[in-house]
Amino acid sequence: MMPVSRRISRALVTGASAGIGEEFARQLASRGTSLVLVARRRERLQELADELAGPDRSMEVLAADLTDADDLRRVERRLTDTDAPVDLLVNNAGFGMYGEFTALDGDRQLDMVTLHVNAPTRLAHAIAPRLRAEGGGGIINVASTAAFQPDPYGAVYGATKAYVLTLSEALHEELRGAGVRVTALCPGFTTTEFQDVASVDQGALPSPAVLTAEPVVRAGLDAFTRGQAVCLPGVVNKLLAYGSEVSPSPVSRWVSKLTHKRFTA
Ligand SMILES: NC(=O)c1ccc[n+]([C@@H]2O[C@H](COP(=O)([O-])OP(=O)(O)OC[C@H]3O[C@@H](n4cnc5c(N)ncnc54)[C@H](OP(=O)(O)O)[C@@H]3O)[C@@H](O)[C@H]2O)c1
Repeated sequence: MMPVSRRISRALVTGASAGIGEEFARQLASRGTSLVLVARRRERLQELADELAGPDRSMEVLAADLTDADDLRRVERRLTDTDAPVDLLVNNAGFGMYGEFTALDGDRQLDMVTLHVNAPTRLAHAIAPRLRAEGGGGIINVASTAAFQPDPYGAVYGATKAYVLTLSEALHEELRGAGVRVTALCPGFTTTEFQDVASVDQGALPSPAVLTAEPVVRAGLDAFTRGQAVCLPGVVNKLLAYGSEVSPSPVSRWVSKLTHKRFTA
């Protein structure tokens, strides 16, 4: 595998204060990549920055709530800054909510749309022109296996992740000729703080499908390095996602409904 650090000198990772984003920061730093760490919890980001700083890499902390328009603009501005240019954007920040659409809080569901749809779109739009002009670098968007079928009891979550997947695949095609790589990383169940935030009992997860963040991120970075459009980490996740694509949609909807209902009981 070609090390990402040969091509990528600085990455901006959203949602770097925990879980998959923190693991992206660790793996990229271990390859000598400088980082801009973005999330709301500044102290967590600062601790991680202090831990990961090294002679071959620098760390910046950019505390921001990506559902806030002013904060989002600050992150966009960092991506267009050419003094210490970012050449990899990892759009990872996100959260889950499970339950009946009508029972879940409407404002929080719209915050999810803002975080999963508006923020990655604006950030990709901020960085892509410079990457295209320079003919290198790229974007990793963290979608989900939830992107491959409608997700009853996780309706808005699945819809936002379907957007992330289709946006990524389209940008992959638009930008590949210019030497810019775009990869959608589609994790399945991954043990992080995601389950606590979504009030999902870890015991309700189907254990053969559960991975830790380490192999998920490794697969994502390898796929990005190869210039792959979509990465499904783990055999079970591949089977579930491709199974959804080839099953008649009532079947995949039903399987998804049963899975998500376990989280809401
Ligand atoms: N874990 C899974 O099973 C799983 C499966 C498929 C896809 N994913 C996707 O993977 C991504 C990362 O999730 P994770 O599992 O690593 O969850 P996590 O451990 O809860 O981490 C989520 C990260 O997003 C950040 N974040 C949340 N709201 C934010 C906001 N408004 N502004 C800025 N940052 C915000 C959090 O930081 P602060 O709280 O400090 O802001 C945190 O760093 C998400 O997009 C998720 O949908 C996860």
